[in-house]
Amino acid sequence: MLKERLAQDTSAVDKALKELFRPEAAVPAHLQEVMAYSVMAGGKRLRPALVLETCRAFGGKQEEAMPFACAIELIHTYSLIHDDLPCIDNDTMRRGRPTSHVAFDERRALLAGDALLSYAFEVMLSGALKSDEPKRALAACADIAHAAGIRGMVAGQWQDVLSEGKQITPEELDYIHEHKTADMMRGAVLAGAHIAGAPEEALERFDEYARLIGVAFQITDDILDVTGDAKKLGKNTGSDANDGKVTYVTLYGLEKARDIAREMTARAAELVGDAADGFFRELAYFITARDN
Ligand code: IPE
Ligand code: IPE
Ligand code: MG
Ligand code: MG
Ligand code: MG
Repeated sequence: MLKERLAQDTSAVDKALKELFRPEAAVPAHLQEVMAYSVMAGGKRLRPALVLETCRAFGGKQEEAMPFACAIELIHTYSLIHDDLPCIDNDTMRRGRPTSHVAFDERRALLAGDALLSYAFEVMLSGALKSDEPKRALAACADIAHAAGIRGMVAGQWQDVLSEGKQITPEELDYIHEHKTADMMRGAVLAGAHIAGAPEEALERFDEYARLIGVAFQITDDILDVTGDAKKLGKNTGSDANDGKVTYVTLYGLEKARDIAREMTARAAELVGDAADGFFRELAYFITARDN
């Protein structure tokens, strides 16, 4: 069931994303091409799927949620382009293709990332202006802005980069994982839930669910960086060791890291029970079982 639902969500999101890159005279052609190169390269589309599924689970309409699903994927993609730059993680493969700065050059990759971030705000605010429920849509804009920003993903990336080569504590590593990765998952479910007008109790429960699967997702990413298959992952392995990073694997070892991630996904699954015919529960288990 999970696979089919994710495939449906992915195909709806991909269609909407494609519309955002229709050639337009006002945008330099090559800029659109460089942005679309990374966005349309595939990717699991987990964050947009979380927006759509949470909105649907609380009775909201998919068309109301779609601008937010697209916006969070644009922001996520910008974060990947910048994360791969030589001055950050210095990686050469992403989503099965050479990274943006390898395929084009650093200046173009940097600016394509900037463009994706600001385009995301244009897309979601335009969605909010057209919405039947502008207040709900604005709350969703705020959720995504918060998740991406200085208390969210950028905060985590900042600490991650500045901790390279240092022996950080488990608490410091948790700060990094919660912010660089889990916050975007939280932003996704909160946006979907706000658009649908979900009750406060549900917002809190889904927020905690997203926090748990988000951290488990990053622990699994750390594990796959050591044990994974670069072909399946679409990105190089061994990147964390090359960058001198402390990860769940270096701090706890593979087995313990796996146990911690599994324990988190089990707690997450309990929080959502059978919601959306079990979609959220199955997604939690998929997070730690995945090989890409
Ligand atoms: C990669 O995210 C960056 C992390 C937060 C670990 P994903 O593994 O969701 O990347 P895509 O979107 O599927 O390419
Ligand atoms: C990055 O974490 C998370 C982002 C916000 C981009 P990683 O640096 O571990 O992600 P990958 O392994 O390059 O996808
Ligand atoms: Mg990184
Ligand atoms: Mg990286
Ligand atoms: Mg990684």
